[in-house]
Amino acid sequence: LSARKPFIAGNWKMNPGTKDEAVALGKEIAGAFSSSTPCEVALFAPYPFLDATVDAVGSSGVKVGAEMAFTEGKGAYTAEVSVSMIKSVGCNWALAGHSERRTLFGESDEDINKQVLNLLNNDVGCILCIGETQAEYEQGLVGPICTTQLKKNLLGVTPEQMANVVIAYEPVWAIGTGLTCPASEAQDVHATCRSVLADMYGQTVSDTVRIQYGGSVTPETVDELMAKPDIDGALVGGASLVAEKFSRIINFE
Ligand code: G3P
Repeated sequence: LSARKPFIAGNWKMNPGTKDEAVALGKEIAGAFSSSTPCEVALFAPYPFLDATVDAVGSSGVKVGAEMAFTEGKGAYTAEVSVSMIKSVGCNWALAGHSERRTLFGESDEDINKQVLNLLNNDVGCILCIGETQAEYEQGLVGPICTTQLKKNLLGVTPEQMANVVIAYEPVWAIGTGLTCPASEAQDVHATCRSVLADMYGQTVSDTVRIQYGGSVTPETVDELMAKPDIDGALVGGASLVAEKFSRIINFE
């Protein structure tokens, strides 16, 4: 049995529509988190709701993070949000490299690498999202794509800093489509990622880094995924917006 503590996170994306809904959702999820919940839990909320979501989860133990942090400090970057800003409202986690940022907003591997370094250099944990597109999947490029993203996005990250990094393997074709990657296939990719991390950082680091699966995770699919040896958690989109579903997911069996 791995000593890695599972980690399940909700990525709310550009949802819900109002602060009141975010607060209600945060409260309900926090209420479902107890000492028997078998994993760490974090909620990634839109910027305007971060403060209120931190309050909503209170001292439950559920963590709150930002969906991205552009840079550090302050400055003339209209509409952007820095690591110190998210930290100041109680967030010690952020996502980086989500496929929607890569494809819809043109973030490059270099941009993502900068974000990762800014987070880690400021002691904020980072969930680095990687994964192949449908076309890449069909061409059998899953391994090479994940390897390249890991190498480029983690450039300059030290072995010590890897303690604050979680990898989320999210096949783009499985995101929001209802097509969960079969658990055995996801396991193979996670094992590949872990061996890439072993090459980059050595076996000890690779054995301790948590690798989440993301892409249409539901209460129906979570148990089988979590039973796989290299799947250490999940990054959940749609189902994290429904308290009942996400509560079941975090309390997987
Ligand atoms: O980051 C989570 C995500 O992209 C998966 O979304 O809706 O397929 O669970 P969903």
